[in-house]
Amino acid sequence: MKQSTLLLSVLLTLTACQKETTTDLDPSQQHTWWKEAVIYQIYPRSYADSDGDGVGDLRGIIQHLDYIQSLGVDVVWLNPIFPSPNDDNGYDVSDYTAIMSDFGTMQDFDELLAGMHQRGIRLILDLVVNHSSDEHPWFQESRKSRNNPYRDYYHWWPAEKGIPPHRHSDMDPDLSAWRYDSLTNAYYLHYFSRKQPDLNWENPRMRQDFYKGMRFWLDKGIDGYRIDVASYCSKDTLFPEIDFTRYKSFGDYYCHGPHVHDYLQEMYREVFGKYDCMTVGEGNPWINTLDFTDARRKEFNMFYVNANDVVPKQMPDGSPLVTSDVKMQALRSFYTSQDSLLHDAGWPTVILGNHDLPRMQSYWGDDSTPELARLSSQALITFLMTMRGTVFFYGGDEIGMNNVRFEHIEDYNDIVTRSYYANILSTKGAAAAAEYLEQQKREGRDNARTPMQWSSDPQAGFTTGSTTWLKVNPNYPQVNVAAEEADSLSVLQYFRKACALRHTYKPTLVYGEYSLVDAHNPTVFSYLRTGNDERILVAINFSASPAVVDATLLKDASPCVLLDNYLDNQGLQVSEGKLSLRPWQAQVILL
Ligand code: GLC
Repeated sequence: MKQSTLLLSVLLTLTACQKETTTDLDPSQQHTWWKEAVIYQIYPRSYADSDGDGVGDLRGIIQHLDYIQSLGVDVVWLNPIFPSPNDDNGYDVSDYTAIMSDFGTMQDFDELLAGMHQRGIRLILDLVVNHSSDEHPWFQESRKSRNNPYRDYYHWWPAEKGIPPHRHSDMDPDLSAWRYDSLTNAYYLHYFSRKQPDLNWENPRMRQDFYKGMRFWLDKGIDGYRIDVASYCSKDTLFPEIDFTRYKSFGDYYCHGPHVHDYLQEMYREVFGKYDCMTVGEGNPWINTLDFTDARRKEFNMFYVNANDVVPKQMPDGSPLVTSDVKMQALRSFYTSQDSLLHDAGWPTVILGNHDLPRMQSYWGDDSTPELARLSSQALITFLMTMRGTVFFYGGDEIGMNNVRFEHIEDYNDIVTRSYYANILSTKGAAAAAEYLEQQKREGRDNARTPMQWSSDPQAGFTTGSTTWLKVNPNYPQVNVAAEEADSLSVLQYFRKACALRHTYKPTLVYGEYSLVDAHNPTVFSYLRTGNDERILVAINFSASPAVVDATLLKDASPCVLLDNYLDNQGLQVSEGKLSLRPWQAQVILL
C-alpha cells in the first residue's frame, strides 16, 4: 500500500514541548554525577592570559568562570598544570605536586577550585602516569649511576646487551623510543619525546611514590582525573623484537602489558577508592575498554577513544581528503559498537575533539563557508548531547573554532609536527616535507591549540600583550565569544540550548537505550533514544547536500521538535515515509 503523503510543518520550540520528568529509573543503572556530566576541557595555555605574557594561566580561567558556568557544563578537565619544561606542553611533568610557574601559583589554583565549586562545577586534573620529564628529580637521580636508588624508577637497557629492539616514538626526530645516555652507557625508554622517559611501573616503590602525588590533589578537593595513555603503564619489559610471533597486536608490544590490570586495581585501592571521584582513561582503538571500566573490576570509571583513529586514512581512489559521509559511517559504527560493548557494564564516553585532534568542525564537519561551519558545528554538538555516555567537549568548539592551517613549520609548536617534519625533510626531502605540512593542516594538533577567541580585540581578547605563544586563528574577528553572545543563530547559543536539553531529558538522553535508525543511510546518522517512557529520535545530516532518512517512527506519533539547528521554523518535512533534512541539519524529536 502506498504510504500516505504526510507533510508536517510543526512550529515547535523547546518550551512548547511539555514533558514530565521523573527520576524513577531502573536502580541497576546506577546513576552517578559523572555519568550525567557534560565535561568541558580547557587547554590552560590557550584559554585566557591574565598577565599579558602571551601564555594562558589559571587567573585567566578564573576571570571566565561565569562564562563557563553559563554554558551549563558540569565538570572542567584541565590539561596538565604541573611544573614542566614544556617539551610536550605539560605532559612532561617535573613535579607532580606543584603548579607550573607559567600558569600561576598554588594560591591561584585554590581560588580556581573554590570558584568552580561555588558555581557547582567540578574539576578534574590530567594525570600523566606513563612518563615524567627528564628534569624530574627521580630521573635526574636515575641516570646518575646504575646502582642509584632511583635507577629502577625508569626502564634502562645496558648497552653491553647491544642495541635494544626497535620501539617507535612519534616525538623523536629519529622516531626511536630508545635514547643512549653515555653517563651510564645505557639506553632509556621514552615512548614519547626524549625528554619524557617512561616510568617503570614494575617497581612497587615508584608506584607508592606516584600514588602520593595523586592523593595530594584529591585531598585538596579535586573531583577526579583524566589519565593520560593509561594502558601504557604496563609493558613487556623484555622488549621483544616486534615480529608478531609473540603477540598478534602491534599495541601489545608497547602497552597493555601483563600487569596493567594489577596496577590499575592497585591504583584504585590506594587512591580512587578512597574518594568520591571520577576517572577517565585515555584509550586507543585496540584495547577493550570494558576490561578497564566494568565497575566490578574497580579500575577506571570510563575510557575514551578518539574516533578519528578508526576513520579510513584515504578514499578508495587514494585521495587523502576523506569526505564527511565516510567519516560519519566510521563514527556511527564505532559508537554503535561501543554502546553494545558497554551496554551491561562499564560506561561509554562521547567525544569528537580534544587537544590531540584537529578541530571537530574542520575534521568531522565542514568549514568551507561560514554558513556550513555554523550548521556543521551545531550538528556535531547535537550528536554529542544526545548520545548515551558521558560527554566530553573541547573548549572553543562551543563557538565553532576551526583549524588554523598554518603554512610554515616555524608556526608550529607541537613536538609531533616538528619531529616528523624534521625526520621527513632529512630522509625524504623537501617535496615530501611540504606534503606532510599539507596533511598537518588537516590533522595537526596545533589546530586545536590556538588561543581561545573571546572578542574582536587584538589577539582575540586572549591576552593584553602583543604576542601569543601560538598564533591566533585569523578568523577571530568573525568567530568569537562576544560576537556569538549577540547572535541568536550562533553556535554558542545553540550549545547552551543543547546542553540544557541533555540535562532536562537526562533519563532518556543520558541513561536511555540507544538504537540505530536507517542503519545504512549513507549520509544521515539517525538513532532512537528510549527511556523513562519516552522516545527521542535524532537525525543528523552529515553532508552539505540535502538528504532523507527513514521516518517510519514518525508515522503514528505526535512529534515535537525539541531542537533544530535551522531556526526558520519549517519543522519536520516528511514525505513518503522519509524525513528530509537540509545541509548539515540536525533535528531532535520527541515522539
Ligand atoms: C597523551 C596526551 C598527549 C601527549 C601524550 C604524551 O596522548 O593527550 O597530548 O602528547 O599523551 O603524554
